[in-house]
Amino acid sequence: MTSTAKDPINLAALRRMKAHGRKFSMLTAYDYPTAASAQSAGVHSLLIGDSLGNVVLGHENTRRVPLDLMIILADAVRRGAPNVYFVGDVPFECMAGGAESVLAAAVRFRDEAGCDAVKFEAASQHTDIVARLAGEGFEVIAHLGLRPQSVVSPDGYRAQARDAHAIECLVRDGRNMVDAGAAMLLLEAVPNEASQAVVEAVDVPVIGCGAGPACDGHVVVTHDLLGIGRGRTPRFVPILARISDETEAAMRDYVAAIDEQRYPADEHVYKMKRVANESVANR
Ligand code: KIV
Repeated sequence: MTSTAKDPINLAALRRMKAHGRKFSMLTAYDYPTAASAQSAGVHSLLIGDSLGNVVLGHENTRRVPLDLMIILADAVRRGAPNVYFVGDVPFECMAGGAESVLAAAVRFRDEAGCDAVKFEAASQHTDIVARLAGEGFEVIAHLGLRPQSVVSPDGYRAQARDAHAIECLVRDGRNMVDAGAAMLLLEAVPNEASQAVVEAVDVPVIGCGAGPACDGHVVVTHDLLGIGRGRTPRFVPILARISDETEAAMRDYVAAIDEQRYPADEHVYKMKRVANESVANR
């Protein structure tokens, strides 16, 4: 299944893929051209993630991302990819404000940016927020496992649910989120055994971010996938391009071309209009 003008992807489509054992793809996007490329490439779902705090804004953690900025960028992403299943990520500042502030963020993601769903990093006490949003008709993705908003320094990113007890807790939390109305779960940085147990325990699609092949769909940060930026890339990401290296090489060429006065060349220079009376042009 690819995203074409005729088939916007919705939750029902993702559920059908799960039912047929077909895996779906999700990437992060924070701008129009990346979103357009993703849709053309057949990516099923895009997430405007608060990872933009790291990969776009250059912060050490995801906590300083303003909702206002996410809404502006989400609107651009939607223009680039009108047919993908589009998810808005609730930033830290809204989580700190409780259910009403998460609901207000969800309304803005839907009404101002055309998001199909909202995701938030859900600790076990957040089932009431899931229930509140689901009760208002929102498709909610509960993000479990590693929750980057609880990480302050870069070495705090650690795999979760790596023993039997932790897996039991993860499964319990996943079930509780689904019982409260979550439309999907997202598991970050957990072993495949943990994902497998969650997938078996719930009937909604489970998206993995470094969570092994058992998941129904997979997401990574696009900047990591494409080799954009200078940060450390998590081991679960397939690095499929080296865009930052290419960018730097192209910029070096530009600097050299100016330095050596090869740029601007004749083809880059506007020409005067031809006029019938040459003397007018010469005035
Ligand atoms: O913010 C984000 O990009 C995310 C994904 C990595 C799941 O939450």
